[in-house]
Amino acid sequence: MRYKIIGVLLLMIAIACNDQASKTDSGAVTFNEHIAPIIYTNCTPCHRPGESGPFSLTSYAEVKRKAKTIRRVTQSGFMPPWPADPAYRHFVDEKYLSEEEKNLIAEWVEQGTPEGNSANKTELPTFTKGTALGEPDLVVAMKEEYLIKGNNLDNFLWIKLPFEIEQDTFIRAIEFVPGNRKLVHHMNGHLISYKEPEKKKIVSEGKHWVNSEFVSSQEKLFEEMKIPNDDGSYPTLTPLVSSYLPGMLPTVYPEGIGGYKIYQKGAFLLRDMHYGPTPVDATDLSYFNIYYDKGPPKRPTLELQMGTLGISDVVPPLVIPPDTVMTFHSTAVIKHDISLLTLNPHMHLLGKKFLAYAVTSSNDTIPLIKIDEWDFRWQYNYTFEKMLRIPAGSSIRVEGTFDNTVSNPNNPHNPPQEVKERDGSMRTTDEMFQFIFTFLEYKPGDEQIALKAKSIK
Ligand code: HEC
Repeated sequence: MRYKIIGVLLLMIAIACNDQASKTDSGAVTFNEHIAPIIYTNCTPCHRPGESGPFSLTSYAEVKRKAKTIRRVTQSGFMPPWPADPAYRHFVDEKYLSEEEKNLIAEWVEQGTPEGNSANKTELPTFTKGTALGEPDLVVAMKEEYLIKGNNLDNFLWIKLPFEIEQDTFIRAIEFVPGNRKLVHHMNGHLISYKEPEKKKIVSEGKHWVNSEFVSSQEKLFEEMKIPNDDGSYPTLTPLVSSYLPGMLPTVYPEGIGGYKIYQKGAFLLRDMHYGPTPVDATDLSYFNIYYDKGPPKRPTLELQMGTLGISDVVPPLVIPPDTVMTFHSTAVIKHDISLLTLNPHMHLLGKKFLAYAVTSSNDTIPLIKIDEWDFRWQYNYTFEKMLRIPAGSSIRVEGTFDNTVSNPNNPHNPPQEVKERDGSMRTTDEMFQFIFTFLEYKPGDEQIALKAKSIK
């Protein structure tokens, strides 16, 4: 009996070895040859000093230390976080592991995490601290640290970040870098431009932040922050040049697409900078990295927003009674031919599923994005691999399912309560259902244009 079992075991080992012999000459899955390329590409961008991941994965020792947890979170699909279904639509820089990659990690852990021959060593790519894009041309930071009181309450602020540069300049990309990655939940950044000689002092004047709850009107807020020109008229405000949500990376298009002009004097104005609750005092000093461009954008990008605060209503109105799972939709008709570049689906804690697709006038369906397990923590800007043409007359249809039952572990209320949109409130405990997309006017041949920026400069 005993011999029989050993015999079976030996046979299994023989099969296992055979299987690996086909993968490498040495017959083993090693860190240097197989695992490092997977980790450095898919994990290290977040798991390195100063980024959102709670520990670093930048060397053999660090990965080995976490090997079993890594096997668990990759098998379950929890890491790397990539909510969009890759079988429905692929995007630029998507982070998900193939079955083969997951299995390689599992095999490596089962074999005792061997390092392997140093001749096969994969070098750690160059990462720059505090940026995903590389060394910026200009950094625009908050004037001083903001104190987030340890009172377990959400904080919503308007924040002004003024800057002064030598000459008017075109910029290619803007990267928001949260100072406190744990507490900064989201923000929308607008760009204010002062044309000479409209305003003399921009840095020393006015409040640099105002608590949103104390804002009675936009006029009053602008007055307190001294936003207007010296003669009281309003400067140019370009909305939504940058936004931040957990996990979001800045979008960079190939040369000539998108971008902005900034003037010598200007400011970023953050609307509803949202700091999450904390039981102990904490601080934040967030900043923008700015990347210059050679000239004006050849094709400026446009943006539309559907659903909450957008061009198309949520149907039925977004009210989710307690103990229900409910699906809402929103539809908009596209009047001109457009080339879609980037999508941003947005819901809060009760979000469960998100689906968006276009239907052309000849009834063809164009898949846009499908998220089967919505996770509030990972809200990306999804950029298409190539520009995607949506012909005039198509409708874009968005469906969102919300789970307001006790079985939703993210439900902020226990027992569940009615949750709805409230005047576009961005509080996490209210809901939103939004679909924002960035596009260009269509030009023949756009379908062939790949959207991955080769490099920032
Ligand atoms: C977009 C950024 C990002 C990427 C990419 C990413 N992680 Fe994470 N990872 C995080 C953050 C943030 C957390 C903390 C999440 C939390 O606590 O909810 C985390 C948590 C973890 C944990 C701890 C989970 C636990 O249960 O304690 C492990 C292990 C992990 N990541 C491994 C990986 C591996 C392996 C990869 C690549 C295959 C990866 N991560 C890719 C951001 C990232």
